[in-house]
Amino acid sequence: MASIDALSSSSSEPQNVRASDISSIKTFAESNDVVASIPSSYHSLPHDDDVADHLADSIPVIDFSLLNSQDPQIHANAVQELGKACQDWNFFMIINHGIGESMMEEVMKKSVEFHNLPLEEKEEFKDEGLFPHIRYGTGSHSQAEKAHYWRDYLRVTTFPEFHFPHKPSGFKEVAFEYSRKTRSIVRVLLQGVSESLGLEPDAIIESTDFDSGFQKFLANLYPPCPRPDLALGIPAHTDNGLFTILTQNEIAGLQVKHDGKWINVNPLTNCLLVFPGDQLELVSNGRYKGIWHRVMLNDRNTRVTIAMIDGPPVEKEIGPTPKLLEKEKPLFKSIKFKDYVDLKLSKGEARRPLDDILLI
Ligand code: OGA
Ligand code: NI
Repeated sequence: MASIDALSSSSSEPQNVRASDISSIKTFAESNDVVASIPSSYHSLPHDDDVADHLADSIPVIDFSLLNSQDPQIHANAVQELGKACQDWNFFMIINHGIGESMMEEVMKKSVEFHNLPLEEKEEFKDEGLFPHIRYGTGSHSQAEKAHYWRDYLRVTTFPEFHFPHKPSGFKEVAFEYSRKTRSIVRVLLQGVSESLGLEPDAIIESTDFDSGFQKFLANLYPPCPRPDLALGIPAHTDNGLFTILTQNEIAGLQVKHDGKWINVNPLTNCLLVFPGDQLELVSNGRYKGIWHRVMLNDRNTRVTIAMIDGPPVEKEIGPTPKLLEKEKPLFKSIKFKDYVDLKLSKGEARRPLDDILLI
């Protein structure tokens, strides 16, 4: 791997690598070319941003088992905690979520094995290739993105139909289990969120048609970057869906924005990180906001994450939950989830289509 010295001494040389020639950032990072230059289109980090690390320990931790408690008082307290976490931080970790450590390790291990397959084998699943529901690629999914991202991804539809690559062996099986378990966790979170808004537990599940909704499995790999000051894994964005559930290997890099400051996230062992997305902001009529987050790089270690993105059916028109509008004015227009995602793809990550459907 290139040292920073080697890089800076060559930084005045002409840049001979174009981002469009890179089909895997992992392969590029392992090659000698990385010493010569990082293509300038990767230079996307605004470096004047504040990082408020003293707040890292205040990220809310929700004990998921209490949400499921049969004791009405314990359940009510857990719902209140959840609502507070969504309102104050729009981000939280969950513990006691019922997914075994061995399953979490296995799904991570298989995701790493997938990214470690030779490039030719992964290219069978290349973005816009033969399998529209299985997409392997590098950088961003959006054509509108000017800056490239220092990450490779495998992005697969796992609900309502389950699609998955047939290799490495055992990946599909563990991913299926993981997909179903995380989806049922999101279902319970949506019930808790509904209750915390003073609605019936199933209000959001019903109004979004969640049970026929969509889920993506996304395995991100961020290789070491010799100049972490010049590139980003993913720039600041909010996620499109209702909730994203994320796990990572032991390497840090995630930051979330809280009160205008970036906070480094240091997950508790075996917790799940939960990101409310734009659709949650929409259905809660702006009460619970989608969280801005981004991925920083380092020059030593490969970071791997698995994001499960859960949302409504793509054809479903989503707006503020009708019951909420008995007491308040709608903040947003309704929009088909598919149109929302298309708008996001056409505008790039930095802009949220939510701002275009504001009514006020
Ligand atoms: C994402 C994302 C964060 C991470 O995939 O949308 O924000 O840490 N990932 O990989
Ligand atoms: Ni994200």
